[in-house]
Amino acid sequence: MGNVALITGATRGIGKQIALCLAKEGYDIALNYRTQNEELENTKKEIESFGVKVLPVQGDVSKFEDCERFVKEIIDEFGKIDVLVNNAGITKDTLIMRMSKEDFDQVIDVNLTGTFNVTKNVVTYMLKARQGRIINISSVVGIAGNAGQTNYAASKAGIIGFSKSLAKEVASRNILVNCIAPGFITTDMTNVLKDEVKEEIAKNIPLKRMGSPEDVANVVKFLASNDSSYITGQVIHVDGGMLM
Ligand SMILES: NC(=O)c1ccc[n+]([C@@H]2O[C@H](COP(=O)([O-])OP(=O)(O)OC[C@H]3O[C@@H](n4cnc5c(N)ncnc54)[C@H](OP(=O)(O)O)[C@@H]3O)[C@@H](O)[C@H]2O)c1
Repeated sequence: MGNVALITGATRGIGKQIALCLAKEGYDIALNYRTQNEELENTKKEIESFGVKVLPVQGDVSKFEDCERFVKEIIDEFGKIDVLVNNAGITKDTLIMRMSKEDFDQVIDVNLTGTFNVTKNVVTYMLKARQGRIINISSVVGIAGNAGQTNYAASKAGIIGFSKSLAKEVASRNILVNCIAPGFITTDMTNVLKDEVKEEIAKNIPLKRMGSPEDVANVVKFLASNDSSYITGQVIHVDGGMLM
């Protein structure tokens, strides 16, 4: 039986690239999506072109019952989950004086509580299997902070604390938990920025460019592989040298 990876929010951006990268490595893919659209169909076809199985599972990660249901669907289909990538995430940026309680709560609910909701349901099976890899997508903003992103930064810093604690809880069962902290990556999330802003950002990055979804996916591939079997509780920066 091949390895199975669950990636949340995987129909576009970084999540899609992670799914394609792991499919290329031969993983069967459980593809979590929130919105049914053309992007889902296209991503599914692209993954299938690698000759692996794809199971699309609908669910809003901020809802515990959704996560409970779709994790069960995956276990019914594949019998196991070897790798979990908590990737789904949103931003609702504004200065604190203008930030509503709803905007704060929504970002925490999707990014941080969503990571808990999916992990809690998946780890049950990993504990029984006595193996697993959990890779959580945080952000440089969770380490350094960013004006206008108190909600997002809090959620991404929370993911790091969550991951380190979980890494200590489950290490004895051979389950490794790590975070990736991307810098500025070219996706829909950063396409909202004006070109001049993006150029200014790139100028201040030591490697002088924004990252690509592939830059992040390649590190996920490493953290999912046997080559990283002595690494747990870590935060790997994929940011072109922004934070050192
Ligand atoms: N891009 C960057 O510069 C950057 C930097 C650091 C960290 N990150 C993190 O990397 C991850 C991916 O970001 P991205 O840039 O690829 O973002 P993106 O292009 O906006 O894609 C986000 C994905 O998450 C899904 N999603 C959102 N809310 C969801 C929910 N409640 N339940 C399930 N899926 C949900 C979206 O699905 P829908 O299509 O239904 O909306 C979409 O597939 C996020 O956690 C983000 O915070 C990104």
